[in-house]
Amino acid sequence: MKREKQISILKELMRQLDEKVNVDAGVQYRNPASSYTCKDLAAKEWKTFFQNHPQIIGLSGDLPEPGSYLTIEDFGVPVLATRDNDGEFHAFLNGCRHRGVQVASEPRGKAHKFMCPFHNWTYSNQGNLVNIPRSRDFGDIDKSCHGLVELPAQEKHGLLVVHPNPKGSFEIDDLLGDLAPEIAGWNFDSLVYHTESVLDNQLNWKLANDTFGETYHFSRLHKNTLGHIFHGDALAYEEYGRNHRFVFATKNIETLKGVPEEDWQYGENASWLYYLFPNVQLGGGGHDANLIKIYPDPHNPGRSITKVNHYFSQEFIDYVAEVPDDGKGAYERERNPSLDAVVEVFDSTIEQEDYLMGETTQKSAETGIVKEFIFGRNEPALHHYHNAFREALEMPPLEKVG
Ligand code: FES
Ligand SMILES: [Fe+2]
Repeated sequence: MKREKQISILKELMRQLDEKVNVDAGVQYRNPASSYTCKDLAAKEWKTFFQNHPQIIGLSGDLPEPGSYLTIEDFGVPVLATRDNDGEFHAFLNGCRHRGVQVASEPRGKAHKFMCPFHNWTYSNQGNLVNIPRSRDFGDIDKSCHGLVELPAQEKHGLLVVHPNPKGSFEIDDLLGDLAPEIAGWNFDSLVYHTESVLDNQLNWKLANDTFGETYHFSRLHKNTLGHIFHGDALAYEEYGRNHRFVFATKNIETLKGVPEEDWQYGENASWLYYLFPNVQLGGGGHDANLIKIYPDPHNPGRSITKVNHYFSQEFIDYVAEVPDDGKGAYERERNPSLDAVVEVFDSTIEQEDYLMGETTQKSAETGIVKEFIFGRNEPALHHYHNAFREALEMPPLEKVG
């Protein structure tokens, strides 16, 4: 992110906090409760956003070295993603060309070849079919035409993106639009993968996404957790096509008063979160990143799976390794962190606080008694997210209140 942009975001957050005002969209919207429960809508979303839309599957650090691989089954098509021996990223349908069995089953690992467990046909990490046991018995087959089916895949700005449709096409820069240079500037490609957490909850995937759409709840729902570290009721927010940037202040921001602008640090004073259409929240705070991927259950609009991938810079990993664990709770340990404590705070806040709210909203929506929910003037990211997905499905925009 450009330095001028960082400064203007910090200034905007300080202004809101000083004036005790929040971001103001100048409009409120009504959101139909059926958006979280309708089976027909859920089927359309699955087809449009998950089976026929590029998917951000990870950051470069998920495939740290030649021979690294991942298997993914989050959006219907089983994917085998590899970094080949030359360091190139590929994605394939994880299905053997003999009789379709998955050639790799571990979630992630290192392999230069993949041997199908059924009859041991073997593929290189570039997808080529390299061996058929007892091929004379099996009969003639042109190996060069029976490699793994390749899926469109691109790695850029530290993002790994796959299209689940072999005939699909995309460019990461087109998906990011005007955000591309800014995303490039974060050097996501240098981050080291730490862990992935899987949250399986009884709430629609859009409700899960909604929990990342306002700071109005920070000092209320999160008063004993995130509320210690971050200011609520203040938000620097900007839209970029179907994506947006959502920045909130840490409590540290007060210390900038009296410090010359050229010395202002962005990472310590603000936390950024990008919403990347349709199902990703990507955020962090300088030396870490969290890639939050939210998937519907295609058979149940009231359930979603969230995969949270955690990454840290090598510098931060080295720093933490030198700090002794003082046995304090994760929040008290802010200045004395452990990587697992950072991860635990993040995941448990989402699951035990945010998603708990969403699960009860889901129950309200499913009664059919409540017909709509309201998005306030201080919740513009929710306006944008819901209107972006509605526009993509050729649905009318949300109705304004009043
Ligand atoms: S199904 Fe893979 S070798 Fe037979
Ligand atoms: Fe929250």
